[in-house]
Amino acid sequence: MLDSTPLLSELEPTAATLLERHLATSKEWFPHELVPWSRGRDFDEGYEWSADDVDLPPEVRSALFVNLLTEDNLPYYFRTIERMFGADSVWGTWARRWTAEEGRHSIVIRDYLTVTRAIDPVHLERARMAQVECGEVPEPETAQDGFAYVALQELATRIAHHNTGKLLTDKAGYDVMKKVASDENRHYLFYRDMVSAALEVDPSGMVVAIERQVRNFEMPGTGIIDYEVHAKAIAKAAIYDFGIHHDQILVPVVLRHWGIEQLEGLDADAEEARAALVQRIGRIGKAGRRFAARRDEAKQKELAAV
Ligand SMILES: [Fe+2]
Ligand SMILES: [Fe+2]
Repeated sequence: MLDSTPLLSELEPTAATLLERHLATSKEWFPHELVPWSRGRDFDEGYEWSADDVDLPPEVRSALFVNLLTEDNLPYYFRTIERMFGADSVWGTWARRWTAEEGRHSIVIRDYLTVTRAIDPVHLERARMAQVECGEVPEPETAQDGFAYVALQELATRIAHHNTGKLLTDKAGYDVMKKVASDENRHYLFYRDMVSAALEVDPSGMVVAIERQVRNFEMPGTGIIDYEVHAKAIAKAAIYDFGIHHDQILVPVVLRHWGIEQLEGLDADAEEARAALVQRIGRIGKAGRRFAARRDEAKQKELAAV
């Protein structure tokens, strides 16, 4: 595996081109314009939130909770990105621009949730304090791992935000999530194409890194209170699950876009990693289909019982 420093300097011109493309396709937007302020009111002294405040399935609440807390963890994601790619040159410019864009996501989602009372504001704030105080985020070891991880993660986040939005019957909520998802999409495109370029410079190193990141991949959320419970709810609502991970990320991006199976000239370690990766993707696909079938069955039973 190539050292991070020569890899990053070799990829600097690509990063500059992709940053330019990113900026050219960015459209300025303002959180305040998306929040339905007229629906807000003061929280009276002694206010206690109740799930009846808003008619929302608990799974959607779970998704909003996890999505927002992940956005709130931005200081640590910034630290990871800056550590991996550096603060100088185009890498630093990208990391800071990315950070500024990500900051908008927690602003708009929190304002929306506070105004609409979709989530208990006290529980949310306590969870935010706990999450940020714990400061836990994935720490990919190498630049290669970093590229692979962030590409997968930005796309996963885009999918989760978008699917959450689709389950909000509220048009304002849908628009908030759609806007955030469109930012995540542009972040994903930057990293997806960065990975393609890195595969040309260091194919073996990248394949080993991609295999490692797919093997260890988890939706961002470690350190969130009751994360496991929420992750289950999110999967139950088909907001994010193995099937989506397989069908919308691993197959179209890892296998097709990056063309992992067609790469030539890999060293022995990378050949081994590629075989393991392709096998794993197959297994994840199977698990996804099993899970979806069980979920459909349970839904049918629920409907039949009504
Ligand atoms: Fe974000
Ligand atoms: Fe993002």
